[in-house]
Amino acid sequence: MEEQKSFLKQKIDPNSPNKNIVPVTTSIDNDGKLLIAGCSIEGLVKKYDSPLYILDEITLRNSCRAYKKALDKYYPGKSLPIYASKANSSIFMSSLISSEGLGLDAVSEGELLTALKGGVPNEKIVFHGNNKSDREIEFAVRNNIQVIVDNDYDLERLEKISNIINRDLEIMIRFTPGIECHTHEYIRTGSFDSKFGFGIEYLSNLFDKIRKTKHLKLKGLHAHIGSQIFELDPHRDLGEIMVKVILEAKKFGHDIGKLNVGGGLGIKYTENDDPPSIDQWVETISTSVVKSCKKHNLDLPILMCEPGRSIVSTAGITIYKIGAFKEIPGIRTYLSVDGGMSDNPRPITYQSDYSACLVKNPFNINSRNKYTIAGKHCESGDVLFKEIELANCKSGDLICVFGTGAYNNSMSSNYNRIPKPATILVCDGEAEIIQKRESPDDLLKYDVLPDRFIKQN
Ligand code: LLP
Repeated sequence: MEEQKSFLKQKIDPNSPNKNIVPVTTSIDNDGKLLIAGCSIEGLVKKYDSPLYILDEITLRNSCRAYKKALDKYYPGKSLPIYASKANSSIFMSSLISSEGLGLDAVSEGELLTALKGGVPNEKIVFHGNNKSDREIEFAVRNNIQVIVDNDYDLERLEKISNIINRDLEIMIRFTPGIECHTHEYIRTGSFDSKFGFGIEYLSNLFDKIRKTKHLKLKGLHAHIGSQIFELDPHRDLGEIMVKVILEAKKFGHDIGKLNVGGGLGIKYTENDDPPSIDQWVETISTSVVKSCKKHNLDLPILMCEPGRSIVSTAGITIYKIGAFKEIPGIRTYLSVDGGMSDNPRPITYQSDYSACLVKNPFNINSRNKYTIAGKHCESGDVLFKEIELANCKSGDLICVFGTGAYNNSMSSNYNRIPKPATILVCDGEAEIIQKRESPDDLLKYDVLPDRFIKQN
């Protein structure tokens, strides 16, 4: 068996986890098996079963601190990083984020509730969405949570509410800056053709409209150009465009004190990925806003940003157990695992690539062992890896997939009535459960059989 270069042998950058494939606490024990935060993965699966989501606390905290540190360095005293909770929402995540002093972005009553239950202060939460329900808007207003107005429908309802309660409401607006960036088209949001936010050409009209309301006070601007972005230029451009929009709003008497530049910094899923560091990303956007404000003689607004993936993705891994093998001579060998598109819909949705290894033998990759790793769902496209080289493996062995902390759990489903995995938090050799595994019985909880069908049976 040949020993190959492995992504596991790369040096880990503890200060910018998004530049690593693996959690910063990854190590190999004396028997050559994989450990995260000093915890044996085999031991965790024995106790908690598989598939299993695992989150590494140190990696999470390092990511939060990297944003705070860089903002303090390049934009001192006037910033608020906000975690985009759509990446991975739980009471635990809300609590951790809030313990690190970050705010949180929510897009539904469910995410709002989760944030509040996790102790995120109301004034550090922002509420997004291109089609908020009346109930959600009222929930946000009642809880003094800042609403980011996405369209005229939001505006009309907020105006109505502010008149009914007869008090001023501070709002921010989201606009599409017309910036193209190189990422999957489904996760590109800043171009003109987007369902999110007001078109930039409509803003003068909008500023006039808001000026004429009795109680709506426009205090901030928001834009988000997309996700998993490796280029820095689009964010540099965004800073300049947003400052120009502050000037335009000023003409209508609006005093914009907050700029929210969205999220979007990419992470390293495979060795082919080379994202900028958190420090570089923050430097780019901060410098652009500072320069533009200076040029136009404007006071610096509070700078907010909304990272999701780059906070939580690298902290997360998923462990699967290998089941069936199917060799099709001359074509490929399928190796099926006990999860798939229900716990990670990203490969089938965006053709996303990941890195993975065997837990018992992470290094000894054998280039003759090329496998297609299939999920267990009734869908031919339910394939997690098209072709991956692994050490020799057999049914019952465990596979670790890296970089699954973002948009895996949060986008998971119960397709084929498969229960969602548990999530375990690991830190300093200890493991704690932060989300329980669903059971098949849990999935029946919302089914209702009308009486006449019960009689019929
Ligand atoms: N702010 C807004 C308004 C957003 O829509 C998003 C992501 C973020 C912040 C956070 O972006 P991030 O830092 O995570 O790139 N499901 C897709 C990603 C969808 C991103 C949606 N919006 C995926 O799995 O790649």
